[in-house]
Amino acid sequence: MEPHRSPGLLQGKRLVLGVTGSIAAYKAVSLLRTFKAQGAAVSVVMTAAATKFVAPLTFEVLSGERVVTDLFHTHEEMKHLTVPENAHAIVVAPATANFLAKAALGLADDVLSTMLLAARCPFIVAPAMDGGMWRHPTVVEHVDLLRSRGVRVIDPEEGPLASGQVAQGRLATESSIVEAVLAALTPRSDWQGQNVLISAGPTQEAIDPVRFISNRSSGKMGYAIAEAARDRGANVVLVTGPTSLPRPSGVEIVSVTTAKEMAEAICRRFPWATVVVMAAAVADFCPKEQAPHKLKKHGRSSLVLELEPAPDILAMLSARKTNQILVGFAAETERLLAHAETKLKEKGLDMIVANDVTRAGAGFGSDNNAAVILTREGRQRELGLMSKRKLADELLTEVKNLRTGCHPPSVISVG
Ligand code: CTP
Repeated sequence: MEPHRSPGLLQGKRLVLGVTGSIAAYKAVSLLRTFKAQGAAVSVVMTAAATKFVAPLTFEVLSGERVVTDLFHTHEEMKHLTVPENAHAIVVAPATANFLAKAALGLADDVLSTMLLAARCPFIVAPAMDGGMWRHPTVVEHVDLLRSRGVRVIDPEEGPLASGQVAQGRLATESSIVEAVLAALTPRSDWQGQNVLISAGPTQEAIDPVRFISNRSSGKMGYAIAEAARDRGANVVLVTGPTSLPRPSGVEIVSVTTAKEMAEAICRRFPWATVVVMAAAVADFCPKEQAPHKLKKHGRSSLVLELEPAPDILAMLSARKTNQILVGFAAETERLLAHAETKLKEKGLDMIVANDVTRAGAGFGSDNNAAVILTREGRQRELGLMSKRKLADELLTEVKNLRTGCHPPSVISVG
């Protein structure tokens, strides 16, 4: 008798897996196996350069389907039209800088790029390239353009690259790619009608015209929450301190620099909001006075800066709160839960997300995070190391439970 197997997450779905000419092409083999193991039917389409790295036969055997490599040398019907027509999603992993440029500009000089113009299904790209190339203004512009059109671009990760350089450019992990595919295939609308005000990134407090006090926040967590809320149907306003992150499409962005500016922007939109998530690392103190000219070291043996408290935005909001849900973050380096509980109570929050920023592979700048969610009713939920996007979705589900009064067991762990 056949052993019982639960249906995979991609059961009944047909994917196009596009593979382009990057050294990371070998990782697409494992990705294909995962898609297949999750029940998807997969048509693999390779660019000519990709075939220099991995033989099409490898993909052919594992997918059980003919690999499409050429726009012209095919005996079958017009593959560039029929393959995307039947697909639920197109995933290009790895995507080279050349492919991103063609996709952004609509150039169609091979079968994969031509398919994109014919496709009407979700399109997901996972770029991989050397760090300098990923940061090149041309590539940045193409990625922004693709994102603004609703393409899901999964940022490459930081780490050792084929060149020996350690930089951002490695193909995102298989689990992030699979998560993005699932999110694209199963759009949720459980946050429809909610107005979500999110803060992200650091603030900068000027000392003089060229210097400022700031912190290590990258903004990635707040941006991930904004994207997750948008994807689940919410109206989202993202108030962001200075970051180098691409602006998410479909989200109203308000750029600020200082804690005071952030406080003003958030307080102005507070009456509109139904949920506020303060993921920003806001300054607690700022220089009392900003020097009008660059401070000179000449003639000084030391320099004392006088700081004054910056507005505590969450405390201000909790004093004005009507029926909004207030969510704070507690970035700690020691006594995580004790500090988080104190902040939850003192700032009058409904929920706090506590994370230990000293933990390896989590926290500032990382694509992953681990956290403990504490609620005002004393519930605790531990979320193990996971992508910031997944953590964002878990957080939104917890906030939704708080709203609907749904109370799963009081201590649960995930991840
Ligand atoms: N926060 C805020 N306004 C500030 C400082 C912080 O609204 N001026 C918010 C943060 O966005 C976060 C929460 O308060 O959601 C906790 O921030 P954190 O920096 O961890 O705590 P602080 O209150 O600043 O306390 P401490 O720095 O002493 O840990």
